[in-house]
Amino acid sequence: MKQSKKSHIVCIANQKGGVAKTTTTAYLGAALARLNRRVLVIDSDPQCNLTYSLEIDEVQQEFALENNLAAIYESGQDAESCLIRLRDHLSLIAASPDLVMTEVTLDSSPETLSTEPEKILRNALSPICARYDYILVDCPPNQGMLTLNALVAADWLIIPTLASVISLTGLERMLEQVHEIVHGEPPLNANLKIMGVLLTKFRKDRTVEVDLETRLRSCPEEFCVFKTVIPDRSQFELLGELKAQTGRSLLDLSMVSYSLLPYLTLAMEVEKILLPKSVRSV
Ligand SMILES: Nc1ncnc2c1ncn2[C@@H]1O[C@H](COP(=O)(O)OP(=O)(O)OP(=O)(O)O)[C@@H](O)[C@H]1O
Ligand SMILES: [Mg+2]
Repeated sequence: MKQSKKSHIVCIANQKGGVAKTTTTAYLGAALARLNRRVLVIDSDPQCNLTYSLEIDEVQQEFALENNLAAIYESGQDAESCLIRLRDHLSLIAASPDLVMTEVTLDSSPETLSTEPEKILRNALSPICARYDYILVDCPPNQGMLTLNALVAADWLIIPTLASVISLTGLERMLEQVHEIVHGEPPLNANLKIMGVLLTKFRKDRTVEVDLETRLRSCPEEFCVFKTVIPDRSQFELLGELKAQTGRSLLDLSMVSYSLLPYLTLAMEVEKILLPKSVRSV
């Protein structure tokens, strides 16, 4: 099959917990699929929150017990045999709790898995990359080997963060890790670029958050902040939307929910960023 576009591997990471990494992976993946992009989402967190949140059926759950990211790391299983098709244009490689042990092995005796332990994911994805427009990797809330593998495999990084002082320390650590990966001797991944910092669970009725947003946007740093901001769901509750959503599947793409809407805007912003510069300026 002729491939017209390059596939983009996007890592969604921040060592800070609870900043909506998994939510962003799920909804951005769903939003890009809704725009008819071919999307693969990968759950690279032993908590398996992405796998659980995507509501795979019983047969798929059974399949995921054996065919998952831990099997790719531990037994060299090929990525193709772990693919779970969720919807048109949207597939998943599931996590399993075994990833806890994978992380320990990668940390303590990496040579038992590979001579290049930080490149296992990159090597595993290369045979299937071209089938997708986007591969989104949901990372755990730490800077361990699973996150490192995702960053080494990725072309792009999205850093979700809350607009709070404590969350911004997570952002600083993330920037340091990226710097090491890109500029280390030798660089582990010289191609890695920060696509943007994404403000999540944002409450525009809180002055402290609005002030932090302003400060972040005026930072003379080497990253940009997405124009799109993901509002806190309590803002939707005000609209009575959350109630109306009860029982709806996240992947019910037939309707555009208030939860999906900001991620559709984000998906369009992502697409614009990835347009070749020559096309963008037309
Ligand atoms: N826009 C939002 N408004 C309110 N709550 C949200 C929003 N987005 C995500 N959440 C909630 O915040 C919690 C943390 O979200 P999520 O699991 O996506 O974060 P995470 O960064 O992946 O966490 P972890 O670091 O544990 O992996 C979840 O309960 C999720 O439902
Ligand atoms: Mg998560």
